[in-house]
Amino acid sequence: MIYTFLSPREAQEWIIEQRQLFVKQFNVSVVIDVLRATSTVITALSNGAKSIIPVSTVEQALDLKHRHPEYIIAGERGGEKIEGFQLGNSPTEYTEAVVRDKTIVLTTSNGTNAIIHASNLAERVLIASFLNLTTVVHELDGYDSSTNIVIVCAGNNGEISYEDTQVAGAIISKLIKERVHYLSDSSKIAMKLWDALKKPDFSGEHAKKLSQLGFDKDLELCQKVDYMPILAELRDCKIIKVE
Ligand code: MLT
Repeated sequence: MIYTFLSPREAQEWIIEQRQLFVKQFNVSVVIDVLRATSTVITALSNGAKSIIPVSTVEQALDLKHRHPEYIIAGERGGEKIEGFQLGNSPTEYTEAVVRDKTIVLTTSNGTNAIIHASNLAERVLIASFLNLTTVVHELDGYDSSTNIVIVCAGNNGEISYEDTQVAGAIISKLIKERVHYLSDSSKIAMKLWDALKKPDFSGEHAKKLSQLGFDKDLELCQKVDYMPILAELRDCKIIKVE
């Protein structure tokens, strides 16, 4: 089965309902926040960062920095870099010169929480964006069609994100070309959207806001399909590049 949570609210409700069962319902989850957290994570790892630690709050990031001064603290609120942090959430900031061999603590408005939710849903958590689309599909294709896959879209402040839904649809569309999977209705909606578009269309609300804030270069980078073909996975609370 391929299930898709188009907004984080759906994922949260599912977790609350299922918590009493004490089991992770899915074998593998795929988290998408194409604008911009998961694109940032993929860029950082592709440029040699050692790992990314996703956290929910500014306080958690500051606490980790206090205990590990060598860590880089990064993230955004309202799209802008958090005051006193070393990096924002622009993938274009995460150059090799800045991130090579570094551990980065990242907190963003929606994306890092979606990664944390996903770790409550499934045994494995993979990180997806357009930048590493086909690599994620190949990894999922290694599972048989009885595997329970959940795609978790970070969305936009609790709402569905047009751009995240496209990445979800692209993954599902490529995956079912290889194998027959049972699709939930939300997965079918995402797939039909991608099949109609066939290429990224960054014209949703968050894309418009990022453009107004002057992040057009990020929008350009985040829609490059397969530009950074790496597999990234959350292991022991850290996202690493899987070799
Ligand atoms: C988020 O987590 O909400 C985002 O990645 C926002 C952004 O910085 O574009």
